[in-house]
Amino acid sequence: MKIDIIGAGSLGLLLAGKLIHAGAEVRLWCRSDEQAGELSRQGITISYEDGSLPLHLAGSSFRAGSIDKFAETVIRVPGDWTAIMLKQNAFHNTLPKILAPLRDARLYAVCFQNGNGHLELLQELLPQASVWAAVTTEAAKRKSLTEIIHAGTGETFIGKRRNINPAKGGLEEETAAISLTKALVAAGFRALMSKEVDTMIYRKLLFNAVINPLTAIWRIQNGELTASGERIQLMKELYREAASVYDACGIAYDADAWEGILEVCRATSGNTSSMLADVLASRATEIRWINGSIVAMADRAGIAAPLHRWICRLVEGMNVKER
Ligand code: PAF
Repeated sequence: MKIDIIGAGSLGLLLAGKLIHAGAEVRLWCRSDEQAGELSRQGITISYEDGSLPLHLAGSSFRAGSIDKFAETVIRVPGDWTAIMLKQNAFHNTLPKILAPLRDARLYAVCFQNGNGHLELLQELLPQASVWAAVTTEAAKRKSLTEIIHAGTGETFIGKRRNINPAKGGLEEETAAISLTKALVAAGFRALMSKEVDTMIYRKLLFNAVINPLTAIWRIQNGELTASGERIQLMKELYREAASVYDACGIAYDADAWEGILEVCRATSGNTSSMLADVLASRATEIRWINGSIVAMADRAGIAAPLHRWICRLVEGMNVKER
């Protein structure tokens, strides 16, 4: 399988490294020429926290290039799938320009972002494309431009959102998604197809909206959130407000979602949340697409979400201009 991976952050490198190792043909599209050059020279290294031997993929075993060259390359030599691994900011800031020459292309694209709003944008940019969502609980940390730590093994669900090109459907799309899922399984991921990705996206959004901003503001790891009653209280208030927005919008969530959030904090206790990682690296955070989505939903439903609105402003105030 030929896979184009757009975005060489921690999850992008994890996906690329494991797919290359399993024999897939990978083209990795980076936002900086410096990173593309380093990856071509040094390859990709995936290391593990449990002391297992690192996995190294030589730079000659894949192609790394600048994201600016993605469209012209794909027009000349199409791939089977494009996995978009960019964070939400980069997604919204770079893709409209990068994908403009592909407006009529019939790409298969799968998006791995947290939050909401990106799938709709992608479908608008690529009306002929088959756009799929991936919801993953894999965790990876960036060590350098070419090296990551695979910090936690999770599950990856691939499916279509109900509001994204529902008219297309069909056997061809389904077959392509099965092949992608099989390629991910062959690469060692626990990947499954799901008809419930809408529910999963909203579940993850709820979890991220409670865990991510608080870990970023307090600069603590996920497990430290549950170490004090006051922190748990604030988490619960954020949770209750988001749940009332979901209720107002008719979005279903599990009756035990609150316990689920506490469980994620425990299960990922040593992890730095993606939002804290962005703050520590002086990158723009995804707050606008996580808590900002909750605020936008509240606005549409005509109800108030003062805590989420407030926390958006607080975290946005921490954003250092993206480098
Ligand atoms: O965004 C993240 O970091 C993760 O989705 C989660 C669940 C908060 C764990 O770190």
